[in-house]
Amino acid sequence: MRKPMIAGNWKLHKTLTETKELAARLADELADIDTIDIVIAPVFTSLTTAAEAIKGSAVKLAAQNCYPEETGAFTGEVSPSLLKDAGCEYVIIGHSERRQLLDETDLFINRKLLKTLDAGLQPIFCIGETLQERESDQMLEVLTEQVKGGLANLTAEQMENVVIAYEPVWAIGTGKTATDEQAQEAHSFIRGLLQGLFSQEVALATRILYGGSVKPNNVDGLMAMDDIDGALVGGASLKAEDFIRLVRFQKP
Ligand code: 13P
Repeated sequence: MRKPMIAGNWKLHKTLTETKELAARLADELADIDTIDIVIAPVFTSLTTAAEAIKGSAVKLAAQNCYPEETGAFTGEVSPSLLKDAGCEYVIIGHSERRQLLDETDLFINRKLLKTLDAGLQPIFCIGETLQERESDQMLEVLTEQVKGGLANLTAEQMENVVIAYEPVWAIGTGKTATDEQAQEAHSFIRGLLQGLFSQEVALATRILYGGSVKPNNVDGLMAMDDIDGALVGGASLKAEDFIRLVRFQKP
């Protein structure tokens, strides 16, 4: 019922030439796939180049961030409608790197989600606990706060366009993936939160991606879990062979 999604977050990597090369190769080699949503998120300056390279293909475009205002005196910022104009269908919001390095709060993230939806884009809303929070048994509390804060004032109808990404901070870029069971446990908990905040229908329909050291050698196990609907991938999305293998994950 939930269409799987494999999304590549390129973070601060790749020049225009490299973007063009990788995006065009993915568009070409993944042309036969229509049962999985395939998304790439290059840096802002490469978005239109990537849009051109994937035009008419199965690969869709995401931005890595946005600002929660349309236009105005906001030097250095980019609005959701301008991202749509550049060819994006999705925006990653609330990534832990932004929460940590730029002090983004749940309130600010919530404003971005609302503006993104208003602009007709689909947010990929990231949440996840740090190692310290997990080890001090605060994981469920942290996830609850992030989900409640981030999704405040959203309607059940708007939730149809929201994708959630559970990315435990301790698993990002460390090579230390959550086990299939750890990820499943968190995803099932998040789905329960959605049921309480919205309805069972919303909980069952919302896609929840896992992110944190997803690689060709662990994707199949993760994707076999009931509540894992896809992956948000950093490092392994930068190499065509690896990302293609992730999109072509094997069902048990
Ligand atoms: P890695 O796959 O490099 O661990 O990054 C995960 C991530 O942060 C995706 O948004």
